[in-house]
Amino acid sequence: MTASRVVQRLTVADVEPESWELSAPVGYRVERWIGATPEHLLVSVASTRRAIHDAPDTARDPEWTPELVRAAEAEDLAAGVEHRVVVAVEEATGLVVAFTDVQLYPDDFEHTVWHDTVVAPRHRARGLARFVKAHMLRWLLTDRPELERIDTGTAASNFPMIRVNERLGFVTAREVVVVSRSV
Ligand SMILES: CC(C)(COP(=O)(O)OP(=O)(O)OC[C@H]1O[C@@H](n2cnc3c(N)ncnc32)[C@H](O)[C@@H]1OP(=O)(O)O)[C@@H](O)C(=O)NCCC(=O)NCCS
Repeated sequence: MTASRVVQRLTVADVEPESWELSAPVGYRVERWIGATPEHLLVSVASTRRAIHDAPDTARDPEWTPELVRAAEAEDLAAGVEHRVVVAVEEATGLVVAFTDVQLYPDDFEHTVWHDTVVAPRHRARGLARFVKAHMLRWLLTDRPELERIDTGTAASNFPMIRVNERLGFVTAREVVVVSRSV
């Protein structure tokens, strides 16, 4: 199996942080945490995360459930990984509808890799992905001024995600073809 992927890089020193000063789209509010998901948001975090399968090439991503979210949190805790999450909550329902997370490793303060960003299908194309990622960037840079660069990999056909990252200051570092097979 082959998959074309784009690696995008944010070099903190090259970006104007003003481009991250975004207000929440009308009808939504931001929430954030390090480590454990607040219990009242757990079910909607898991269901929003399951929509990662709308992205190309995500066959190996888990089918997120509340139990799996808790298991991943426990793994991070045991490994000394700081797991930061930013979500958008729909005011009318109190449910999480947009999610993004970053893991910070204890032995690498200057660099990190950004993994998942997901918006529930009904809430897409309203600026929520850009909003939660911009909020994460402001939060990270406030607490971790030593962070110099962030890399993220996206399927080459995932134009909305690539576009969101570009608007935040990420530039395409390279395109790679990933070849894999089951053993
Ligand atoms: C990718 C995803 C997170 C984007 O979320 P979103 O809230 O809809 O994104 P935003 O509204 O902030 O921005 C979308 C941008 O993509 C653009 N866009 C949307 N569809 C597009 C398309 N088919 N081609 C090119 N650009 C497109 C929008 O115009 C917007 O750009 P703009 O700000 O310049 O107008 C969402 O579609 C999603 O959850 N997809 C499934 C999971 C996924 O692919 N996650 C990423 C892999 S980790």
